[in-house]
Amino acid sequence: MLNQQQKVIFSGAQPTGSMTLGNYIGAFQNWKQLEKDYQCYYSIVDLHSLTVKQDPETFRNTCLSFLAQYLASGLDTEKNVIFFQSHVREHTELAWLLNCYTYMGELSRMTQFKDKSERHQENINAGLFTYPVLMAADILLYKTNLVPVGEDQRQHLELSRNIAIRFNNIFGETFAVPDIYVGKQGAKIMSLQEPNKKMSKSDENQNAVIYMLDDDDVIVKKLKKAVTDSYNEILDRPEQPGVQNLLSIYSALSRKDREDVVNSFEGKGYGALKKEVAEIIIENVKPFREKYRLYMENSDYLENVYRSGADRAREAASKTMEDVREKIGLVSF
Ligand code: TYM
Repeated sequence: MLNQQQKVIFSGAQPTGSMTLGNYIGAFQNWKQLEKDYQCYYSIVDLHSLTVKQDPETFRNTCLSFLAQYLASGLDTEKNVIFFQSHVREHTELAWLLNCYTYMGELSRMTQFKDKSERHQENINAGLFTYPVLMAADILLYKTNLVPVGEDQRQHLELSRNIAIRFNNIFGETFAVPDIYVGKQGAKIMSLQEPNKKMSKSDENQNAVIYMLDDDDVIVKKLKKAVTDSYNEILDRPEQPGVQNLLSIYSALSRKDREDVVNSFEGKGYGALKKEVAEIIIENVKPFREKYRLYMENSDYLENVYRSGADRAREAASKTMEDVREKIGLVSF
């Protein structure tokens, strides 16, 4: 059953590679926290991943593995609607319509488009360019009020809001205008090797990224190699981005106030900081890994979750689409 009284959340992650600590802290931890008070739609946004070339067999497995990772992060499968984006065709339908209310100039300004087209020069496809419109469709389809994401998605969210406002101005109140929700801590977890750069799944340097399925010893090793600085003092200031990043990770995972965390490390060395950060990561990753394995062994259960998720999502999505089609002037059938 959908809870019609509660405000709506939509969020999603692209099923490529494996979930990172950045995804977990920037998104999943907050998703779990918010599930009590909102009707949440958490989608594995598989269509977004196709803007980069995928091997079909590997991709299918990665999508299922991502579903297991969603569940391993503890999301309630009864209350939340958990589904694959491609199973609810209304996403692509709405994306097309919204394309006609989005300007080339707006899309050209998207920094992720600029970054990605630089990184994938051999495949600058139209999907990469219109990606933020599909994202707007994901969100607006459910009349979403709140979108919990990491800081890197802010620009896309602003575009979604502008598209919603524009559409409502032309056709009357249709979409809710969504607010962004960014966690107080860890909205941007940085690379362990280049702490001025976001921690990203696609980083070629494996030491830069912690994956939620990394083994304990791998986590310890990556933390030992994490780049810091030569100040040798644990201070929370921009000149020490590596240290700041470790403090963010610690404070997000321990849910402790950042100031208290900084105070608790007073007088300690970088070795101690790295050790304690590794420990708290392992504390979170261990149960995640264990649950993940159980879910991956139970493909029937996974199928149940995504089928019922898609049914529930479709129920809400089809209502919005009926309204949108009617307002735009398409002949009903
Ligand atoms: P994606 O798959 O890159 O990342 C999923 C979520 O993880 C957050 N995130 C981070 N947070 C903190 N530090 C980091 N280093 C870090 N890396 C990633 C992201 O901000 C995101 O919240 N376009 C989206 C997927 C998407 C979506 C949507 C999200 C498609 N449609 C509708 C919200 C609503 C993306 O590529 O996320």
